[in-house]
Amino acid sequence: MTKRAPHSDIDLTRWREYDCIWTDSLWIIEARDRTGGHQLDYHGNFVPQIATQTYLRYTREGEVVLDLFLGSGTSAIEAVRLNRRFVGVELNPELVETVRRKIPADLLDRNIHILPGDSTQAETVQRVRDVLGTMGTDCAHLLILHPPYHDIIRFSGSAADLSNAPDLETFLDRFETVARYGFDLLAPGRFAVLVIGDKYERGELVPLGFYCLERCQRAGFRSKAIVVKNITGNERGKGRTNNLWRYRALAGGYYIFKHEYVMIFFKPADRMRNTKNGP
Ligand SMILES: C[S@@+](CC[C@H](N)C(=O)[O-])C[C@H]1O[C@@H](n2cnc3c(N)ncnc32)[C@H](O)[C@@H]1O
Repeated sequence: MTKRAPHSDIDLTRWREYDCIWTDSLWIIEARDRTGGHQLDYHGNFVPQIATQTYLRYTREGEVVLDLFLGSGTSAIEAVRLNRRFVGVELNPELVETVRRKIPADLLDRNIHILPGDSTQAETVQRVRDVLGTMGTDCAHLLILHPPYHDIIRFSGSAADLSNAPDLETFLDRFETVARYGFDLLAPGRFAVLVIGDKYERGELVPLGFYCLERCQRAGFRSKAIVVKNITGNERGKGRTNNLWRYRALAGGYYIFKHEYVMIFFKPADRMRNTKNGP
């Protein structure tokens, strides 16, 4: 006899055996996982362990993960590794081509779909819907959102890039638009993962993580968890910069960011669509 939650393959009758699954809200990751095709080739990518942990907790094999800020494709590669299906959207067309080359040919455009597009746009969402249709489903089973942390890293010169949003309110409005589309594309009763960090601006902390959490709630999501995760495992060596930040911290009263958030949301089982005018 097995006992499973509807959103996971974890057999709850054997719950003591799942040491590899983390349930604490503090994640100290010593080093990024470089196995299974993962590389540190994109400044701003997340550690594969975020995908590993959330796929195992919140999806079953063969289900569809949707990532609306795909970047270098960490989430797509992990979907291949863990036998999940996948749809990813990324604004930068060159990056889309790079990620497509990382996916095994027999899975590309069948189980794993990598689409160029602006995730704030209704026509992109329609293309995602069309692709989901070809996969025999009308919604995804897990949503991943790893937006730019506003202008901390400029990802491209495109005005549509959230990292080029002219001010904080515009960034948050565009993020909320994507969160609303993501909400609509997600199956009711399922989970969403937001990976986000805070920033400093003009000597003041800007709690981006909490602002984005609030925007997700406005989009219809309910909060399930805030995981605090160290960022040390995701950095390249930067000795001189570290010293500079330490000096600034001591002089200006800051604390140096060593954490970011993995926020977990769920879509209530009785909610379907959110956006009024979208596809
Ligand atoms: C923080 S990175 C995501 C990194 C990804 N999780 C990884 O592991 O590689 C954010 C990505 O969002 C993309 N992006 C920014 N604005 C976008 C938009 N409007 N639509 C789609 N993608 C966008 C950027 O090009 C960038 O690659």
